[in-house]
Amino acid sequence: GHAAQGGSAAMPQPLKTVADMPLLPESALPAGQPLQALKVLNSSSANKMAATLTAAAHEVELVPGKKTSMWLYNGQVPGPLIEAFEGDEVEIRFVNQLAQASTIHWHGMPVPPEQDGNPHDAVPAGGEHMYRFKLPKNCAGTYWYHPHPHGDTPEQVYRGLAGLFIVRSKTDPLAGFSEQHWVISDLKLAADASIPDNTANDWMNGREGQFALVNGQREPVITIAGRQRVRVWNACSARYLRLAIPGQKITVVGSDGGLLEKPRVVEELLLVPGQRAELIVGDGSSAKTTLKALVYNREKMGKVAPEVERVLATLQFTAGPTPKVPATLRKIADFGRAVAMKKVEFSETMSMDNGVHSMAFLINGKSYDMNRNDLVSKVNDVEVWEVFNNSHMDHPFHIHGTQFMLLDSELNGKRQDAPYRALQDTINLRPYEKVRLKMVQHDKGLRMFHCHILEHEGQGMMAQVLIK
Ligand code: C2O
Ligand code: CU
Ligand code: CU
Repeated sequence: GHAAQGGSAAMPQPLKTVADMPLLPESALPAGQPLQALKVLNSSSANKMAATLTAAAHEVELVPGKKTSMWLYNGQVPGPLIEAFEGDEVEIRFVNQLAQASTIHWHGMPVPPEQDGNPHDAVPAGGEHMYRFKLPKNCAGTYWYHPHPHGDTPEQVYRGLAGLFIVRSKTDPLAGFSEQHWVISDLKLAADASIPDNTANDWMNGREGQFALVNGQREPVITIAGRQRVRVWNACSARYLRLAIPGQKITVVGSDGGLLEKPRVVEELLLVPGQRAELIVGDGSSAKTTLKALVYNREKMGKVAPEVERVLATLQFTAGPTPKVPATLRKIADFGRAVAMKKVEFSETMSMDNGVHSMAFLINGKSYDMNRNDLVSKVNDVEVWEVFNNSHMDHPFHIHGTQFMLLDSELNGKRQDAPYRALQDTINLRPYEKVRLKMVQHDKGLRMFHCHILEHEGQGMMAQVLIK
């Protein structure tokens, strides 16, 4: 049911004044261990994906000799990997053992709105909910899941709640490649190894901890045998990842919503919070290099430390099978002629009252209200969404329930057609950038769209479209 909850924050909110705490040095977390594979969620049924996800607080020893209290799905860092095939039935029983309401949102997946963990459908503390959906045709891709209660999403994610979901196709042109999974997440640890609350700066710029982890590990050693397919998730609250592998080119074969039409060979790849990519890495040599996050320098406000380049992992290439990457991966059909248009504008305002900074992150001039439908669309209508970032910060736009394609973008008066076709559910907008996205919603109901810097979303940079 739709639990009535406060959700309206029309006025700028005073920034919470949690002081910056002393943090652990980066060296406190052990590094250099072999990368651990994600733990797969086993199905209890032979003919569908049926399992339980329990969200609960756990004491974890991340720093030797110290306890960190985290909120986890099934006690795992990162959360379990769910794997299913197109056409599969999925039944996930969610047990909420947190002390607050939560939901599970299936980021990027075409699940019906009432199964998609909307903030309206919060599962109370101590409650349970069965999520049930059938994966449609042609939805193979790299997805993830995380909580989506209004206001508490940032905290639930930075305390550890996020997991992975891969939908596979029975006719996958890359099925011959062995696969690896790299989930990049952010972690902030105070000097006593506890996870501190968001500071005023975190609420403004989005939270970035001192650690960027791969599969929950600091600077793991990743062995790439021959040529492998790698799925990468940016599961960070706010960290932009400009990924590079010094000395190697990266072959990108997939985006959020599955394969590209053709492989793209690049020197670096920007993954913003919420985005995923599929890569082909390795050449069978025995080179040793690193996976790096280069400086992106997104626009921030206030006094913030300059970004630094970081090593996310050591990469060790070894001999192994080197299957060929097909020149054509699939055809992404155009959705057809657009019959409607929507306008979305991101903005932020900052004011100072009695020495207290107030900040508002807005969509179309408003802060999120779960009782207000911001836009109305018709089911199966092809639409063009013109999204304009009328602000001086970067904001990643994300919409639920569908995959869009970028048509063109405009920045500083320069218009550019999308250089290739790809299915995405999350896209970055530079300050004052405008993008045009083509999309279709195939289910009736409410869909959220928001900035995927979770602190911005949590403060109201979110809106909803009613599909009729
Ligand atoms: Cu990954 Cu509405 O979010
Ligand atoms: Cu989502
Ligand atoms: Cu934002």
